[in-house]
Amino acid sequence: QLGRLEQECSPLRNRLWHRSYCPRTHIILTDNSSLPDTHQMLRQTCADFAEKELAPLAWTTDKKHLYPTEQVRKMGDLGLMAIDQKEEYGGAGLDSLAYAVAMEEISRGCATAGVIMSAHNSLYLGPIKYWGSEQQLQKYVLPFSTGEKVGCFALSEPGNGSDAGAASTTARDDGDCWVLNGTKSWITNSYEASAAVVFATTDKSKKHKGISAFIVPMPTEGLSLGKKEDKLGIRGSSTANLIFDDCKIPKENLVGESGFGFKIAMSTLDAGRIGIASQALGIAQASLDCAIAYADDRKAFGAPISKLQSIQFKLSDMALKIESARLLTWRAAKLKDAGMNFTKEAAMAKLAASETATFASHQAIQILGGMGFVSDMPAERHYRDARITEIYEGTSEIQRLVIAGRLLAEYRK
Ligand SMILES: Cc1cc2nc3c(=O)[nH]c(=O)nc-3n(C[C@H](O)[C@H](O)[C@H](O)COP(=O)(O)OP(=O)(O)OC[C@H]3O[C@@H](n4cnc5c(N)ncnc54)[C@H](O)[C@@H]3O)c2cc1C
Ligand SMILES: *[C@@H]1O[C@H](CO)[C@@H](O)[C@H](O)[C@H]1NC(C)=O
Ligand SMILES: *[C@@H]1O[C@H](CO)[C@@H](O)[C@H](O)[C@H]1NC(C)=O
Ligand SMILES: *[C@@H]1O[C@H](CO)[C@@H](O)[C@H](O)[C@H]1NC(C)=O
Ligand SMILES: *[C@@H]1O[C@H](CO)[C@@H](O)[C@H](O)[C@H]1NC(C)=O
Repeated sequence: QLGRLEQECSPLRNRLWHRSYCPRTHIILTDNSSLPDTHQMLRQTCADFAEKELAPLAWTTDKKHLYPTEQVRKMGDLGLMAIDQKEEYGGAGLDSLAYAVAMEEISRGCATAGVIMSAHNSLYLGPIKYWGSEQQLQKYVLPFSTGEKVGCFALSEPGNGSDAGAASTTARDDGDCWVLNGTKSWITNSYEASAAVVFATTDKSKKHKGISAFIVPMPTEGLSLGKKEDKLGIRGSSTANLIFDDCKIPKENLVGESGFGFKIAMSTLDAGRIGIASQALGIAQASLDCAIAYADDRKAFGAPISKLQSIQFKLSDMALKIESARLLTWRAAKLKDAGMNFTKEAAMAKLAASETATFASHQAIQILGGMGFVSDMPAERHYRDARITEIYEGTSEIQRLVIAGRLLAEYRK
């Protein structure tokens, strides 16, 4: 792919194309000093892996909607596909801070790889880690720890996303099994998944308190997939409906207690938001990497545009927002690792980092001028990839509601 593009590009474009993938700035890791040694090493390992294995493929992954199977398997070899799971279940036994640091570097190389890793770790493995039985851990975590099998998480429905408590998919107790009926929408990893954590109601009259969580092996009879959505960004990941039609699953696949599903979903999303914040940081940092490399090279009116104050101000604002959001994200992860409540902090991190990704990728295009608008350079991809981080795992509006809710509760205490 690179070869074909090189032929098509002018010599100037050629040089920039190379620089966009190997800019000097690419491997600079800011804030390293505030991390423990193991995390610094993990960060460097992921940055190297992303630069070598992910960034060169990110263009094709996006353009051709290709799921990066081989790269996901290699991420499994690095321990990234069960990063905070216990070692006895095949996990790397690391903490949330490690997850955040790794997720940023992976997404900096390729945001599609980031979302695959995030849906698998936070949304699929996460609830089973905290709420699953020993048998579920053996059957649905251990074989899912190597990057060969991925999982998905099905909460949203066509008629309700933000209002997840209104979900209408049902699970009927049929004596020796559960029977699921209904449609889940927007499910990341659905086409590649070997299992799903699915939320369904066992008692509609109890509203959100009637919702329970179930593990559904995939494929399975009575479960079909809708069309693959044609998306603005993260185009290498699959997103589709899960359609349940009298889908029978074993009795023992209920996760946690019956009626606990909504609580499981909300606490899963609390943790997941640290992952999405980190994915957004990776996209924002990649935008800055690209913008700095370009600005220092591109000449206008006889000098590099990096000499222009207006360009310098853009770069400063990008860096300031990125480093601020990174501190918020690492703080949320550290609170989680310390066993403290981190709901507000994770919402703040996700809100700040996702809006930063939108801002930084927008500014990067401005700095690149025309080259920002074409797909020879990664800036336009970052701009498209950034957008989803303000939508999934709670929109920016929902994050603001979560933050305000906690603020008021703290004030009234
Ligand atoms: C690419 C992609 C991948 C996804 N992956 C998954 C997945 O793996 N699993 C899964 O379960 N879901 C997934 N989702 C779904 C995603 O979480 C929802 O799209 C998101 O929660 C928003 O829900 P909605 O689309 O129904 O929007 P709506 O809830 O209809 O919201 C529409 C608008 O109204 C605003 N709004 C809604 N309620 C309020 C309120 N109370 N106050 C203020 N504003 C409000 C929203 O912020 C938004 O701006 C994915 C979505 C996409 C696009
Ligand atoms: C960050 O830490 C890694 C691993 O210790 C090290 O190799 C790298 O040089 C550090 N980077 C910076 C900018 O300090
Ligand atoms: C939730 O969405 C489904 C369609 O996906 C719809 O049938 C159901 O009525 C909605 N729930 C509420 C409470 O509106
Ligand atoms: C599921 O939906 C089908 C129609 O699609 C219906 O025939 C069946 O009775 C429903 N099953 C349950 C358990 O609600
Ligand atoms: C934090 O506290 C709030 C309010 O008590 C609760 O709803 C939420 O689940 C808690 N979050 C975590 C991650 O424990």
